[in-house]
Amino acid sequence: MTRLLHIASSPRYAHSHSRTLTQEFIDKWSLYHPEATVILRDLTLNPVPYLDDTWITAKFTAPDQYTPELTGAIELSDQLVDEFLAADCYVISAPMYNFTIPAVLKSYIDYIVRPRRTFAVENGAFKGLVTGKKLLFITARGSDFRPGSAFAPSDFQEPYLRTVFGFIGFTEIQFINANGLRTDLRDQSLAEARSTIQALASHW
Ligand SMILES: Cc1cc2nc3c(=O)[nH]c(=O)nc-3n(C[C@H](O)[C@H](O)[C@H](O)COP(=O)(O)O)c2cc1C
Repeated sequence: MTRLLHIASSPRYAHSHSRTLTQEFIDKWSLYHPEATVILRDLTLNPVPYLDDTWITAKFTAPDQYTPELTGAIELSDQLVDEFLAADCYVISAPMYNFTIPAVLKSYIDYIVRPRRTFAVENGAFKGLVTGKKLLFITARGSDFRPGSAFAPSDFQEPYLRTVFGFIGFTEIQFINANGLRTDLRDQSLAEARSTIQALASHW
């Protein structure tokens, strides 16, 4: 059975473009995958705490050396990694905040990028361990960051996400970016995003 993990990061709900577009994608995709299970990891409802000293010590300690304190510190991270690795495909919805991702999504990424679990070091080189899985991002931006636009070089969202998820092994990463949602481009952008969603849902 296919497991799709939906990771949502907008603190808005009914008014959130990234959540609305993502739900539309999942509803359409589910029609083609009636057997699939969709799991929602809502980072607004259940935010992941920031890292602390004990957590970082645990991250770089082999599990057979854990003290009870280190086991407790890394427990939530282990659960999130287990949930992440159990999925077959991923849809991550994200607003653009200050040219990049919301802090809740960054915290989540800090929890799931883990040595031995999602990446390894082999002969001095990093190797991603999450392979053969599809990943789709649906983002919402107030301004226009499309290639060629004045803001395009300031897009630290898509390049960052491609880099960090590439680091843990993903090679099949797609983006649907709804740009200019606080400009005159809004209606055109939403229509284009919906048309891409419609087309992608049938063969993703
Ligand atoms: C704290 C904050 C920071 C934002 N920073 C940016 C930004 O850097 N670039 C941009 O284009 N839009 C920015 N916006 C606008 C949001 O990206 C836009 O409203 C988007 O639709 C939010 O996603 P959502 O509709 O899924 O909540 C920002 C909004 C907030 C609340």
